[in-house]
Amino acid sequence: MVKKIAILASGNGSNYEAIAENIEAGKIKAEIALVFSDQKTAYVLKRAEKHHHQTASFGLKDFSNKQAYETALLALLKENSVDYVVLAGYMRIIGLKLLESYAQHIINIHPAYLPEFPGAHGIEDAFAAGVDQTGVTIHYVDAGVDTGPIIRQERVPILKTDDLATLATRIHQVEHRLYPAVLAEIIK
Ligand code: GRF
Repeated sequence: MVKKIAILASGNGSNYEAIAENIEAGKIKAEIALVFSDQKTAYVLKRAEKHHHQTASFGLKDFSNKQAYETALLALLKENSVDYVVLAGYMRIIGLKLLESYAQHIINIHPAYLPEFPGAHGIEDAFAAGVDQTGVTIHYVDAGVDTGPIIRQERVPILKTDDLATLATRIHQVEHRLYPAVLAEIIK
């Protein structure tokens, strides 16, 4: 049976699009059953419509508390028979209920070489630190922020000529190659 994945994303969705294109090209043996965003105006939802993927969106403020939000999200994943949850710029911490239901089946991409520069501003933090290399990390998700078991990492040099925009572009190029490649290996 072809595995079903849900993409969870809060914003632009370029990683979603790279994954979708790789699935369409037959390089990842999976089906995108759902693209979910906690931000109703996120560009990822527009991209998903273009690829004819089912979308859903609700936010924390649609519920009385975070637990109710997570319960609804989990129900949505189960309704769609989702096997793997793929985070692609999803800016929320995954709660315990979801973690328990999808143990070792929630994957995230982070735009730095973890454990260096965790958190929401991995690219900016590495650039501001003045180091000469950063990277990209793909990891399983646990209860911490960017702390789960690492699956794959790749270094990205920070060039003397880089500004934040050129560095971000090179990091995203690595992401768009690495994330589909890793997913192709994991999801079979
Ligand atoms: C990526 O840099 C990813 O590593 C991080 O959020 C960003 C999402 O970009 N978690 P996009 O929405 O896929 O374009």
